Amino acid sequence: MLGGIGNMAWLGSATLFILSLRGLSHPASARRGNLFGICGMAIAVLATLLVTGGAGLEVALGAALVGGGIGAVLARRVEMTQMPQLVAVLHSFVGLAATLIAVASFLSPAAAMSAVERGIHDTEIYIGAFIGTVTFSGSIVAFLKLQGTVGGKPLVLPGRHLMNAVALAVCIALGYVFVGAPDGPYALAALGAMCAIAAVLGVHLVMAIGGADMPVVVSMLNSYSGWAAAATGFMLDNDLLVTTGALVGSSGAILSYIMCRAMNRSFVSVILGGFGAVASTSSAAPQGEVVATSVDEVGALLRDASEVVIVPGYGMAVAQAQSTISEITRRLRAQGVRVRFGIHPVAGRLPGHMNVLLAEAKVPYDIVLEMDEINEDFTNTDVVLVIGANDIVNPGAQEDAGSPIAGMPVLEVWKARTVVVSKRSMATGYAGVDNPLFYKENTRMLFGDAKGSVDALLRQLETA
Ligand code: TAP
Repeated sequence: MLGGIGNMAWLGSATLFILSLRGLSHPASARRGNLFGICGMAIAVLATLLVTGGAGLEVALGAALVGGGIGAVLARRVEMTQMPQLVAVLHSFVGLAATLIAVASFLSPAAAMSAVERGIHDTEIYIGAFIGTVTFSGSIVAFLKLQGTVGGKPLVLPGRHLMNAVALAVCIALGYVFVGAPDGPYALAALGAMCAIAAVLGVHLVMAIGGADMPVVVSMLNSYSGWAAAATGFMLDNDLLVTTGALVGSSGAILSYIMCRAMNRSFVSVILGGFGAVASTSSAAPQGEVVATSVDEVGALLRDASEVVIVPGYGMAVAQAQSTISEITRRLRAQGVRVRFGIHPVAGRLPGHMNVLLAEAKVPYDIVLEMDEINEDFTNTDVVLVIGANDIVNPGAQEDAGSPIAGMPVLEVWKARTVVVSKRSMATGYAGVDNPLFYKENTRMLFGDAKGSVDALLRQLETA
């Protein structure tokens, strides 16, 4: 009876998780998607407690209270710009949980098993611990890279692919020892040795990735954390965990694939941790003169324009300039100027980062266009306003074959009549690459914090 109720509840939860993913695919339905996810998780937790007959209830409730409390405090404190680091840490928790559950499951097997069942169970433990450990250590390195504690430059060790292949082969060999040996010190030693190698492998895979390619790594680790959860589901014989893990794993993999295509990278090389690792052969610093501009000059340019495209980047998120930009957009549109937004798939530090900020600032969705939708229109654009963006508008990706971002599609803003770039200095972006856009004849640099600059611009447009 209880099992039947549990299965029904798990089916309901899985359906809610699918609806949640569907809702999260668009800013307009994202809140509803989140709500579905929360309901699904609440039902899943309650059903699990019910099915297990309340065994270990105090421990489960205590852990949920402590974990939930820490999560709530962190979620309130973390700035929007620190979200990628938070996501990376959360992935590492999923990985660590999978490894710990695998070890616990090995040390205290649930019930008496036949030899075949034991073989299957040990295989699940081994795979769960492997994926979990790679996810854990890889996510920690991703966190340190996103935080800036570890530099964005890829670590290109000689023979690194061979090292990865050897590590993988040793892990497979240890797997044979683990599954073949009777449960005891030998099996435990094999499991421990594999975890140590997997931890080094996770570190090495992510260290080999260059700064501009980190978005794909984050979504890839997201996918790994899903597969780690699915493996845990097999270990615990929990169908819902298998389904949920598979949903996270496959949606993360699809997102990684979409990002790889958007960034012109090979999906297989990402999994192998090898792309983005080409040593830069770019020699020449950008040539030309940097022309600074003023708020008054930009105001005049905008008033005279009939086609304006705004390109937001990470600096807009740092400055929290989106509300003022939304107000400028509203004002220009009221004066008959056609204003649209161009969004690069990896602008900011999270998938959909700019879309979320613009939606929050109530910019209408129909004027927010993807890179592919807007790129051809720049030739007919009077003014492009680049707000705190850098790598995503770097022409070096197309013009300099030796650049670390060579081949990455970018927003071709330099094709517009005039480009205004709002940023504080000539500093590079996340990829650490100089940007020839700032030296082009039709580029004007509006130096200063983006919020201060656009606030002044709005006042200028209101008074003129
Ligand atoms: P970036 O290339 O990082 O450039 C942002 C620019 O904003 C910087 O050059 C900085 O210049 C400027 N800035 C910072 N604070 C500012 C402020 N308060 N006011 C005005 N400007 C400010 O950003 P992007 O163009 O959005 O490109 C994203 C980069 O991050 C890509 O390389 C991408 O691969 C990487 N990345 C993306 C993700 C995802 S999923 N989106 C995840 C990880 C990494 P100043 O210091 O001179 O102001």
